[in-house]
Amino acid sequence: MGYKIAIVGKGGVGKTTIAGTLSRLFARNGYRVIAIDADPSMNLSTAIGISNEDLKKIKPISEQKKIIEERAGTQGGVFVLNPKVDDLPDKFQVIGPDGVRLLVMGTVQTPASGCMCPDNALIRALIYHLILETKDVVILDMVAGIEHLGRGTAKAVDAMIIVVEPGNRSIVLAKTIRDLASELGIKKIFLVGNKISSDFELDFIKNKAKELGIEVLSNIPLDQKIKEADLKSIAPIDNDENSKGIEVIKYLYEQIIMNIEKRV
Ligand SMILES: Nc1ncnc2c1ncn2[C@@H]1O[C@H](COP(=O)(O)OP(=O)(O)O)[C@@H](O)[C@H]1O
Ligand SMILES: [Mg+2]
Repeated sequence: MGYKIAIVGKGGVGKTTIAGTLSRLFARNGYRVIAIDADPSMNLSTAIGISNEDLKKIKPISEQKKIIEERAGTQGGVFVLNPKVDDLPDKFQVIGPDGVRLLVMGTVQTPASGCMCPDNALIRALIYHLILETKDVVILDMVAGIEHLGRGTAKAVDAMIIVVEPGNRSIVLAKTIRDLASELGIKKIFLVGNKISSDFELDFIKNKAKELGIEVLSNIPLDQKIKEADLKSIAPIDNDENSKGIEVIKYLYEQIIMNIEKRV
């Protein structure tokens, strides 16, 4: 079985940057990667390095109203809980550099938790039912919180990586996410520090992680090359694949492999 990894955390901490770069690294190491952009701002494609030409081919799944209605709508007043989804990746993916396959969810309705909107149901089913071969990996770039995750989605995730930056708000959200994730039964929950620019900040992350009792997989430095990639709208790994931040994301990749393969 392959892995499904969700990247979560406060807005702006670096989830998309990390998800895009990890997707490329898994792909370069022989994995078949499905990257899922589940954030309505839809910017994972740039972090992966998908060309402008290919960007135009992206069809967000939430816009496929007919398919959503057909697969996950109510039938005879009964809500379809297990819509058919196996053909969706092939239909809607766009293939990026190193063969990374991107699926874009688009603007999904995310009102109160436990929303039974058909588009949410379809996405949950998609994540849950994607059948993975050994060398497959699904990387989910999520919106800030995980409140919209139904029980289904979370159970389908093998590991959750909570990205934090040196700042109390990202730590407070990390705690909320951790509590919800453990309640949902996710066993492998890790922390990744990002945008760290001093020893003081590094110690801050390490101490907070200890208080929370969550293992830190890596601490990524604040890296001007990563910021620069964003300004140029290119993938950080294509801007400079040996910058100090990217080097630490390569180490993070190794840590993920090691920790996911370890038995719980
Ligand atoms: N390690 C880093 N060093 C410098 N800038 C970073 C780093 N990680 C992310 N960024 C920048 O921070 C901003 C937010 O990152 P992004 O990945 O979009 O966050 P999120 O997806 O969590 O909202 C972007 O401009 C990105 O280039
Ligand atoms: Mg993002």
